Amino acid sequence: MLEITHLDVAHGEAVAVRDVSLRVRPRELVTVVGPNGAGKTTLINAIAGLLPVGRGRIRLGDRDLAALPAHELCRYGLALVPEGRRLFGAMTVEENLEIGCYARSARSRRAESLARVYATFPILRERRRQLAGSLSGGQQQMVAIGRALMARPSLLLLDEPSLGLAPAIVDQVFEVIAGIHADGVAVLLVEQNVVQAFAIAARAYVLEQGRIVAEGAPAELAQDARIREAYLGRQ
Ligand SMILES: Nc1ncnc2c1ncn2[C@@H]1O[C@H](COP(=O)(O)OP(=O)(O)O)[C@@H](O)[C@H]1O
Ligand SMILES: [Mg+2]
Repeated sequence: MLEITHLDVAHGEAVAVRDVSLRVRPRELVTVVGPNGAGKTTLINAIAGLLPVGRGRIRLGDRDLAALPAHELCRYGLALVPEGRRLFGAMTVEENLEIGCYARSARSRRAESLARVYATFPILRERRRQLAGSLSGGQQQMVAIGRALMARPSLLLLDEPSLGLAPAIVDQVFEVIAGIHADGVAVLLVEQNVVQAFAIAARAYVLEQGRIVAEGAPAELAQDARIREAYLGRQ
């Protein structure tokens, strides 16, 4: 469904993603792991239409994503959970969720989608009139994921959803992602938490200094001595 070929993305003069090719098949859970500064956010933001594409192509089905503005992408089944969550802290939980369904097709299903999000995250129903900024980090991440689900995506992009969360909350976030995937949604998960990302992904790419340096099934990659040392704590 998502196919990226020979992609370069730059910030001004500085090329942060170089010659990246990757694919996500329908209903597949794929992870891109790599250290801080590797280019993970640059890559996912380029897919989401937030950064211009230099060389290369990004296709979703038979559409060229580079040609579409970011606000149109949700119409084609793509939703992003951005790094740092990016909620409106002075708006309520429910108002934040409602922002996620601006495509007409999603809007007509808003009540149903909201009910589904609350079924997935019962705590958000309890807190729906509270200001998003008053929630814990874990609950805010649930709002950010719920907001993306309001668009009823077929491909969900997640940028380091575990960042800054306590270990017990991180476990919950990964369970939620696995559950979304089990419901039939394709997922592209960018993470530094390699152990947890490998545990739920069918395939993985390792990004270092803007380039893909390894790819394969997590179990295979975990056999690689260098990857084990760099990312899996030499187990
Ligand atoms: N807005 C920006 N302007 C200039 N350089 C940037 C910007 N955002 C990121 N970079 C640079 O691009 C590289 C990749 O960053 P990023 O995509 O944020 O990596 P990651 O998400 O893997 O930590 C880094 O060298 C970073 O300093
Ligand atoms: Mg990042």
